[in-house]
Amino acid sequence: MLNAEQRQAFDRDGYLLFQQQLSETDRKTLIDRAYALIEQAELDPSHRFSTTDRAQINNDFFLGSAETVRCFFEEAAFNDAGELTQPRAQSINKIGHALHDLDEVYRELAQRDVFAEIARDLGQQKPSLYQTMVIFKQPRIGGEVVWHQDASFFYTEPSSVLTYWFALEDATLENGCLWLDPGGQTGPLRERFYRHGDELTMVALDDTPWPTDTGTAMPVKAGDLLVFHGHLPHYSAANRSTQSRMALTFHVVDGALPYATENWLQRPTLGEFFM
Ligand code: FE2
Repeated sequence: MLNAEQRQAFDRDGYLLFQQQLSETDRKTLIDRAYALIEQAELDPSHRFSTTDRAQINNDFFLGSAETVRCFFEEAAFNDAGELTQPRAQSINKIGHALHDLDEVYRELAQRDVFAEIARDLGQQKPSLYQTMVIFKQPRIGGEVVWHQDASFFYTEPSSVLTYWFALEDATLENGCLWLDPGGQTGPLRERFYRHGDELTMVALDDTPWPTDTGTAMPVKAGDLLVFHGHLPHYSAANRSTQSRMALTFHVVDGALPYATENWLQRPTLGEFFM
């Protein structure tokens, strides 16, 4: 599937862009299904998500999402009285994390050969999908996602995790497109997110600064797919525009390697999902 030029580009830059990997029908089906899932979500202010203030996250609800499908609300979704300040459909931060196991629409996409082939061509022996997220980045209240590396959350030795980032809608500078640090995947892993029992902690490993002033914006079209290396630093700004920026992500680990028992996301019931 990948040619020599693409492999070289991935080694050099840490990412590849695949244009138009989702058809318009695919996107509509995935988006409609996401909104249907939201309608079933329990309205509970403790079900919020934040990457800037982890103390706000309800641990039990978060940990339980490893093997279920749960809707996480935006930090700013509720007022002091615990009521939504916008309609429900515009109040969700993300849906995660076992959509590919439990939802037939997302499962069908995850099982398409093309995505396993990309992982194999980038060096994985047994591509294993651990996590699926629908990320909404809502108009006006869509939160910032601070600079991070996804291998902090999916630790293997050697590092193997690949992130698949599908644009379900156009991602622009205004609505919070991704920012990447091309070449930054050759640098060290700066942090690691540990789970001990039900305790979650982010531990600093290396003080290499984040590329806050040198990142590259990656605006992409609806249907495009970005695949990037687990050590590639990335970021997205808050969305203060009137346009949503829905994305779908897969986190794919090489199932031929031992998966760290300290990673937060464990799948004792579902087991491996080989793509
Ligand atoms: Fe990420």
